[in-house]
Amino acid sequence: MAAYPAQYIWMNGEYVEWPEAKIHVHTSAVLTGASVFEGLRGYANPEERQVYIFRLQEHLARLWQSMKVMRMTPPFSQEELTAACTGIVARNGFREDVQLRPTVYFGEGGLYAFTPDKVATGAFITSTPRRCILNDETGIACCVSAWRRIGDNVMPPRVKAGANYHQARLVNVQAAVDGYDGAIILNDRDKVAEGPGACLAIVRDGRPILPPITAGVLESITRHTLVELFAAEMRLETQEREVDRTELYLADEVFFCGSAWEITPITSVDRYPVGDGAIGPVTRKIRQLYENAIRGRLPKYKHWLTPVY
Ligand SMILES: Cc1ncc(COP(=O)(O)O)c(C=O)c1O
Repeated sequence: MAAYPAQYIWMNGEYVEWPEAKIHVHTSAVLTGASVFEGLRGYANPEERQVYIFRLQEHLARLWQSMKVMRMTPPFSQEELTAACTGIVARNGFREDVQLRPTVYFGEGGLYAFTPDKVATGAFITSTPRRCILNDETGIACCVSAWRRIGDNVMPPRVKAGANYHQARLVNVQAAVDGYDGAIILNDRDKVAEGPGACLAIVRDGRPILPPITAGVLESITRHTLVELFAAEMRLETQEREVDRTELYLADEVFFCGSAWEITPITSVDRYPVGDGAIGPVTRKIRQLYENAIRGRLPKYKHWLTPVY
């Protein structure tokens, strides 16, 4: 096999060799980034010789939400995409931690065709190995981005559209050029929204606080998961309320949460140390719980997992 991250990609009902999974250049998918997608993870459980996909049904439900707002005709059923997600991991023979990206795109049908009957949709799913970062001992240094978060009446962040990530690129590039590991974005009301690819939580006086789902954030599945774990396993009730920029400087703990970023501690914001500049106790504990849940070590949460094998 050539040096590709995976041998196969699932595309429109077939397992296609990595270099053969192609979309024509003259489609809205390529020219204007007209697609919706999901990013989710599969985690290895070596004792059970299993790989578990985390919250697959919730991710597919959100994909369907994104398609609805975009007026896209689903090219496959949720059952078909469920089988395709487990199928592509197995077909590639992955036994390690993986990332999956089920994507639905506007394909052939003309660049000026806007009604669902006139433009064809297609789907593909990539699966590639991706290392779990939950045990990394270093936090990241973030800035508050000068870029504003996209808004519900502009490019709805609730819709996980490929084109939304043009904004993520502007934010990430600026942060990198300015010497930061990442960035936190404020919304059009100057309140904290989220990161370019993850939700944000702060901890003050031992209590987790999340910007509300109407603050210009994706309806994150990890965020939802953590609210449940905080309540059930740590007896902590999460407060959902608007968060000011200066609270980022005064919080005891700050972290990103999301399928890709998992739970990533942020140990400084705009060069102000968060707390004492080390990973805080609430972040540490929730990371440990989350890792046990995603790997299938907590029987109570096994209903969140879809086995590949
Ligand atoms: C902009 C943005 N916010 C939040 C998240 C976290 O969402 P989830 O927890 O569903 O992965 C993501 C990741 O997909 C994202 O891209």
